[in-house]
Amino acid sequence: MSTVIKNGTIVTADLTYKADVKVDGGRIVEIGPNLSGAETLDATGCYIMPGGIDPHTHLEMPFMGTYSSDDFDSGTRAALAGGTTMVVDFALPAPGQSLLEALTMWDNKSTRANCDYSFHMAITWWSEQVFNEMKTIVEDKGINTFKHFMAYKGSLMVNDDEMFASFQRCAELGALPLVHAENGDVVASMSAKLLAEGNNGPEAHAYSRPAEVEGEATNRAIMIADMAGCPVYIVHTSCEQAHEAIRRARQKGIRAYGEPLIQHLTLDETEYFDKDWDHAARRVMSPPFRNKQHQDSLWAGLASGSLQVVATDHCAFTTDQKRYGVGDFTKIPNGTGGLQDRMPMLWTYGVNTGRLTMNEFVAVTSTNIAKILNIYPRKGAILVGADADLVVWDPKRSKTISAKTQQSAIDYNVFEGKQVTGLPRYTLSRGVVVVEEETMKTREGHGEFVKREPVTAVSRALSTWKEITAPRKVERSGIPASGV
Ligand code: URP
Ligand code: ZN
Ligand code: ZN
Ligand code: ZN
Repeated sequence: MSTVIKNGTIVTADLTYKADVKVDGGRIVEIGPNLSGAETLDATGCYIMPGGIDPHTHLEMPFMGTYSSDDFDSGTRAALAGGTTMVVDFALPAPGQSLLEALTMWDNKSTRANCDYSFHMAITWWSEQVFNEMKTIVEDKGINTFKHFMAYKGSLMVNDDEMFASFQRCAELGALPLVHAENGDVVASMSAKLLAEGNNGPEAHAYSRPAEVEGEATNRAIMIADMAGCPVYIVHTSCEQAHEAIRRARQKGIRAYGEPLIQHLTLDETEYFDKDWDHAARRVMSPPFRNKQHQDSLWAGLASGSLQVVATDHCAFTTDQKRYGVGDFTKIPNGTGGLQDRMPMLWTYGVNTGRLTMNEFVAVTSTNIAKILNIYPRKGAILVGADADLVVWDPKRSKTISAKTQQSAIDYNVFEGKQVTGLPRYTLSRGVVVVEEETMKTREGHGEFVKREPVTAVSRALSTWKEITAPRKVERSGIPASGV
């Protein structure tokens, strides 16, 4: 049954224009004036935009002795309520575990998804088995991204030699490495010292991870990727030091991408000094929230193009789970939520303040990541033939964010009390209206896995350049006899 979205203004990453959009069979089938269909959605006063893509979520993830509390049902409901129509989650093999086995575990959890999804595969250890399985992951399983943690020493962290080996394998396979860039050795050492000095509250989490920890690791990851001949994507870029490393690399022609989170853009380090332990602990995540100068740097990066994507790193723990760390901040499960609030918060603090144009908003919430992940224009576009993952965005709708009305399963919201203006009137997932203002019409299991082909134009260009500039033996005649 066809649906026409009428009377709205289409906003994409590069165009703003008035037209109707007709969808049928889950796809966009026509764009133009005066379209008709079996069903009509009124978009008067609204913008019709590609649904958001959040490339960084951790749903039902085993981590720090517990599981993140939003699963693929509540997490993807939260996404859709806020205009995000696709999430990319991380399959995390335990050290020593097969990548394929881990993928099966994530496949099983994701059957509950209400919106389309994909996975990044994490490299948490290194061996010939991992090397071999990476090929299967890329060529048979439709996953073209591999995540590396430079932090979480003793659990997920990989060392430079492992990262270099994995990055070289990514280059061969046309895959993109992702990096959590914090110097895990320094964090471990600073954490132990803080604890020994009696500094055991949530604020010590921030003290243990200064911006230099992130800047150093970001620079190191980028240089290692450059030597391996692959692009690199730095997740949750939170500070000027990391942004500066990305900016500098890009100016030299290195293909490095940076992903600020909506939390780092809008919440700052003062949250950790709150007298209420729960308030501070609920905001413990890595990297921690930073000061206003760092926030200004991230906003500038989005406007100028040196940072490309806004994500959430949605990894939600309840207050009870956060309390595992009473008396020892290193045991507070790291992570915050944001899936429902990313788009309204970014619109309110970005577009409504003039920091971002509407087109830049679409670019950083959807189109840029669709291109980076090689799913454009199926996702991230309003074009005939694209998936009808759409949001009809009402720039005048307002609400106050509250845990009481959220889809997330946890008992608080880090954006509690923030007034947002700019919310979905409708969200469509492959043509199905799944959100109509406050009414959720989602269906558990509607979401489908999105396969991603390897070898983007960027990977191809880099491997061509690497081949042309590869070390070559100099052929010589008349080599002198050995001096011995
Ligand atoms: O604190 C965070 N970011 N938790 C989720 C895991 C990660 O590092 O991305
Ligand atoms: Zn991380
Ligand atoms: Zn509070
Ligand atoms: Zn994460």
